[in-house]
Amino acid sequence: MLVSVTEMLKKAKEGKYAVGQFNINNLEWTKAILLTAQECNSPVILGVSEGAGKYMTGYKTVVNMVKGMIEGLNITVPVAIHLDHGSYQGALDAMEAGFSSIMFDGSHYSIEENIEKTKELVALANSKGISVEAEVGSIGGEEDGVVGAGEVADPNECKMIADLGVDILAAGIGNIHGKYPENWQGLNFEVLAEIEKATSPMPLVLHGGTGIPEDMIKKAISLGVSKINVNTECQLSFADATRKYIEAGKDLEGKGFDPRKLLAPGTEAIKATVKEKMELFGSVGKA
Ligand code: 13P
Repeated sequence: MLVSVTEMLKKAKEGKYAVGQFNINNLEWTKAILLTAQECNSPVILGVSEGAGKYMTGYKTVVNMVKGMIEGLNITVPVAIHLDHGSYQGALDAMEAGFSSIMFDGSHYSIEENIEKTKELVALANSKGISVEAEVGSIGGEEDGVVGAGEVADPNECKMIADLGVDILAAGIGNIHGKYPENWQGLNFEVLAEIEKATSPMPLVLHGGTGIPEDMIKKAISLGVSKINVNTECQLSFADATRKYIEAGKDLEGKGFDPRKLLAPGTEAIKATVKEKMELFGSVGKA
């Protein structure tokens, strides 16, 4: 069932759990995530960066692939296709192609311009039943070419953006895309609590889910985080399983070079990672 994130995240916030956003890159990724969501009876958000959208030959391909899989695999849990870190134009294009949810990352604009552009996109998205995620205070590290300085969000600015009618809000609280450095200071829970106070009951989004210790994830959920984005961890699991297959010489045995065999261990590894996250986030059985 293709839906926006509005209902599923409202329920998550009320129920004190989080729904995972898992980024997709191709058919194997999408299939692995959808099958795991169904197996876990969990709602799920498929994240698509602009780069991944281009890689998959365009947003229309993505929408049609996901819709085809929902039908072909009998997926009955709520599924959202969400543009990850979209530009203004990217958000327009994704809405046009049939995405059920978009993120507009205006964090690199001045707060005035971020507000202006977010407002325009909210009006358009609302008229189509599409949900909108906005961002304040950029997330550190790099996400598919989008580089953020990693500043901590200002709770007053969060309130200004939340009041524009967005459905969910991503706020930088010391989180980083990709692996965390050795000397990482951890999440800033004081700021998270202030943001929650200023924007409640809006569901909050935690980007950079890869490598955040379990206790911090749980604390973040208890403080109002209802959506957690995971990307790098699935990539690492996939690469690791694929490397092991090749290093063991399995591609040279029989028809082990058949892509359906060659990509199977990586696909299974993504499933295991997604399941682990759904259990940690508490979304199992919440579809
Ligand atoms: P990670 O790659 O660090 O898991 O971050 C994913 C993300 O936040 C996508 O927006």
